[in-house]
Amino acid sequence: MTNQWKEYLNAYREAHGRPPAYLTETMGCQMNERDSETIAGLLCDLGCAPAASREEADIIVVNTCSVRENADNRFFGMLGRIKKIKEARPDTVTAVCGCMMQQQHIVDAIKERYPWVDIVFGTHNLHEFPGLLQSAALEKAKAVLIRDEGGEIVEGLPSKRKSPFKAYVNVMYGCDNHCTYCIVPYTRGRERSRRPAAVEREVRALAADGVKEILLLGQNVNSYRGRDEGSAGAENGGLAEGCCGAEGGKLDFPGLIGRLNAIEGIERIRFMTSHPKDLSQRLIDAYRDCGKLCGAIHLPVQSGSSRVLARMNRRYTKEAYLELIERLRATSPDIAITTDFIVGFPGETQADFEETMDLIERVRFDSAFTFLYSKRKGTPAAAYADEVPEDVKHRRFDRMVERLNAITAEKNRACIGRAEIVLAEGPSKTNPAMMTGRTDSGKLVHFRAPAECAGRMLPVRITGARTFSLYGELT
Ligand code: SAH
Ligand code: SF4
Ligand code: F3S
Repeated sequence: MTNQWKEYLNAYREAHGRPPAYLTETMGCQMNERDSETIAGLLCDLGCAPAASREEADIIVVNTCSVRENADNRFFGMLGRIKKIKEARPDTVTAVCGCMMQQQHIVDAIKERYPWVDIVFGTHNLHEFPGLLQSAALEKAKAVLIRDEGGEIVEGLPSKRKSPFKAYVNVMYGCDNHCTYCIVPYTRGRERSRRPAAVEREVRALAADGVKEILLLGQNVNSYRGRDEGSAGAENGGLAEGCCGAEGGKLDFPGLIGRLNAIEGIERIRFMTSHPKDLSQRLIDAYRDCGKLCGAIHLPVQSGSSRVLARMNRRYTKEAYLELIERLRATSPDIAITTDFIVGFPGETQADFEETMDLIERVRFDSAFTFLYSKRKGTPAAAYADEVPEDVKHRRFDRMVERLNAITAEKNRACIGRAEIVLAEGPSKTNPAMMTGRTDSGKLVHFRAPAECAGRMLPVRITGARTFSLYGELT
C-alpha cells in the first residue's frame, strides 16, 4: 500500500465514516468465481470493504465470461446499468476483467464505445489490479492492461471466500485441448499446473480456517502434472505419498488427490472438470482408495455421435465414453454422473442427434447441463458452413432437456429412504426454517435443522424428491 493510497483511505474514512466499498459481479464458471474471490481479497488488503448494495459501491468490478454469445450480451447489458451509476456518482471506479477481456475485439469495443469504464484487465494479471486501481482512484487515470499469456503462476494472493465451509482450489490454469467450438483456450491460455506443495499449503490453511469441502478446479484436471520441489519432503510436512503417481518429478492428478486426502480437517474432495479422453484408471481407482473423494463426477460428453465428437476434436468416441462409464460404475457403483451437452453443433444431423438420445438412455445421467451451440469468433467451428437451423436446434434442445429432466427426477426418487451424510451449508434462501446442504454425490437436500448446524456433516434420511432437489429428515 503506497503512502498516497493510505492518505486517500484516511480522507475517505473521514468523509464517509466507512472504508471505500466494492462490489464484484461475476459471470461464468467456477474459475471466474475463484478469481473474483482473489479480486475481493486484493481489495480487502487495500483497506476496502464489501458494499451493502450496488448503489453504495465505490468500486465495481465485473468479471466476464465469453463461453457463449448470451454471456457476452449480458455483459453489454450490464455496461449500460454501470453507465447510469457512473453518471449519478462520477467518482465510482469501474473495472472490467475476465475471459471477454482476453479478446482484442472486445477490448477495442470497450475503448471506443464505453468510455465510462476506467480499468480493463485480463485473466492472467489479477495481481496487477491493485496498481491499476490506485492510479484510477488517485490520478483518475484510465488503465488497460492485458497479458497474452499466463507465464509463471503467481502464488500467495489473498482471497475472500463466499462460503466458510467450502472452498475452490485451483490446481491448474488454461487449456490445451482446443475443442473446435470453445473459446476457453484463447481466454485462459496454455495449460499450467500448480506445484503440489503450493496446493497442499493452501488446502492445509483452508482446513485450519474451518473448510470441510474443497472443489479442485481445472479445465482438464486429468492432465495435471505438478512439479515437486526439491525439498518436497519438508514441504509435505512428512505426509505419506498418498496414491503416489509422481513420475519424472511430476505428480499426476490422482497422486495429488491422494496427498490432499491425508490433510486433517478436510472431509470432502471434489473436482471439475475432467475430460473423458484422458480419464485414467488411476483416477477411477482413487474413488475406491481415497476416502474423502466424493462419489460424483462431472464428465462432459457434449454429443453421443462419434462423428460429431470427431468434428468437435474431443478425441473420444461414443463407445469409449460408454466404456468409461462402465468402468466408473464397476469401481464405484453409486457414483453420480453429470455431464454437459451441446445441441446443434454445425453439421449435426437428425441421426447424430438420435445417437445422443441413445447415449442418454444408456448412461442415465444424474443431471446434465444442455447448451445450444453458440458460434465463438476465432474458434475453428466458427468457420464451419453447415450450421443447424435455429428452429431445429430448439426442437432438439427441448426434447433432450425433457428426457434428461425425467431421468433426473427418477434418479432422485430412487434416493428416497436412503441414509445420507449431508454437509449443512446454511438456511434455505426461500424458507429460513429449512437447512440446505449436499449429499456426498452432490445432490441438494432441504431438511429441518437449527441454523447453528451450518458447517456440520449431518446424518439425513431422504424422505422426498423433486426434479432438482431432495427433502430429508435429520436422524
Ligand atoms: N473444460 C470443460 C468445459 C468448460 S466450458 C470441459 O472440457 O468439459 C463448459 C461447457 O460449456 C462445455 O462443457 C460445453 O458444453 C459448453 N460450451 C463451451 N463452448 C460452447 C459453445 N461455443 N457453444 C455452446 N456451448 C459451449
Ligand atoms: Fe474448452 Fe475443450 Fe478445453 Fe473444455 S477441454 S475448456 S471444452 S477446449
Ligand atoms: Fe469460465 Fe466463461 Fe471463462 S466458462 S473459463 S468464465 S469463458
